[in-house]
Amino acid sequence: MAAQIIDGKAVAEAIRGELAADIAALRERHGVTPGLATVLVGEDPGSVSYVTGKNKACATIGIRSFHHHLPADVSEDYLLKLVGELNANPEVHGVLVQLPLPKQIDERKVIHAIDPDKDVDGFHPVNVGRLMIGEEIFPPCTPAGIIELLHRSATPLAGADVVVVGRSNLVGKPVAVMLLQKRAGANATVTICHTGTRDLAVHTRRAEVLIVAAGRVGAITGDMIRPGATVIDVGVNRIGITASGKAKLVGDVDFAAASEVAGKITPVPGGVGPMTIAMLLKNTVHAARLRLA
Ligand code: GUN
Repeated sequence: MAAQIIDGKAVAEAIRGELAADIAALRERHGVTPGLATVLVGEDPGSVSYVTGKNKACATIGIRSFHHHLPADVSEDYLLKLVGELNANPEVHGVLVQLPLPKQIDERKVIHAIDPDKDVDGFHPVNVGRLMIGEEIFPPCTPAGIIELLHRSATPLAGADVVVVGRSNLVGKPVAVMLLQKRAGANATVTICHTGTRDLAVHTRRAEVLIVAAGRVGAITGDMIRPGATVIDVGVNRIGITASGKAKLVGDVDFAAASEVAGKITPVPGGVGPMTIAMLLKNTVHAARLRLA
C-alpha cells in the first residue's frame, strides 16, 4: 500500500499563517516589526536559492529583511565587523549567516560572533548547550521542522524507536537530542547511525521513525525500512544539472520503493525543506518577542 505523504509545503503554509497573526499582534500591541538579517557570501547556487527563499518568506508574513550579499573573496575581518553591526542594530532581531562559507573564513569564529540572543539558526555554542539541557530558546530550524512534521502528522514519539541516519551538527545530533528529551512530544528511544555504523540496515529496519540526513542519494532503499514506519527524508541532492543550471532535487531515500513499505513519508522537494524556512521565521518572531520581555 502506498504511504501517506507528509506535505511539508502545506504544514509550512499553515505555520506562516499562524506567524502572520502573531506579527500583526506584535505590531499593534507593541509597535514592533520583527527583523531578520541574512548574510550570503559568494554565489553558490544552493545558498543563493536558500537565502532568496528565506527573504521572500519574510516578506509574505511581515518580517522585515536586511539582506547583505558579499563577494566570495570577502575577508573574515569584514564579515565579523558586519556581524557586530547587525548584533548592535535594534531593528534586527535575528542574524543568519548562510553556510558554508569560503575557505578564507573560519566558520566557527563567525558563528561564535553572533549574539546568542539573535542566533535564530541556533548554531551558537550557548544555544547548542541550551538545547542539550532542554532549555532551548532557538531550536535549530531543520530539526525543529522535522519535529513539527512528526507532531502535525500525529506520529507517536513517546517510547518509540527512532533511528537518525547522519550525525551532523546541523541535523543529526540536534534532532536526536530533541527527540530524547523527557517531555511531551518527545521521550523517544533514539539511535544515531553514521558512516562508522557497521550494519546500517540492522538499525533502520527496526525504526518506527526513520530520519535520514545522510547527504547521499540512495542511502536508504525500500528493503531497509520497517513496514509502516514514518520516514523523514532530509536529503537535498541536486542531480542531472543541465547546461542552463537546472537540476532535479532528490532526497537520500529511494522514494518510489520506500513509499511501498512506509506508513508515512516526506517527499523531496516539498517535505522538510519548506519547514526549515518556516521554523526560521518562527525563531525570528520569538527573538522579537524575547526582546520585549
Ligand atoms: N546552510 C544549510 N542549511 C543552513 C541553515 O539552516 N542555516 C545556515 N545559516 N546555513 C545553512
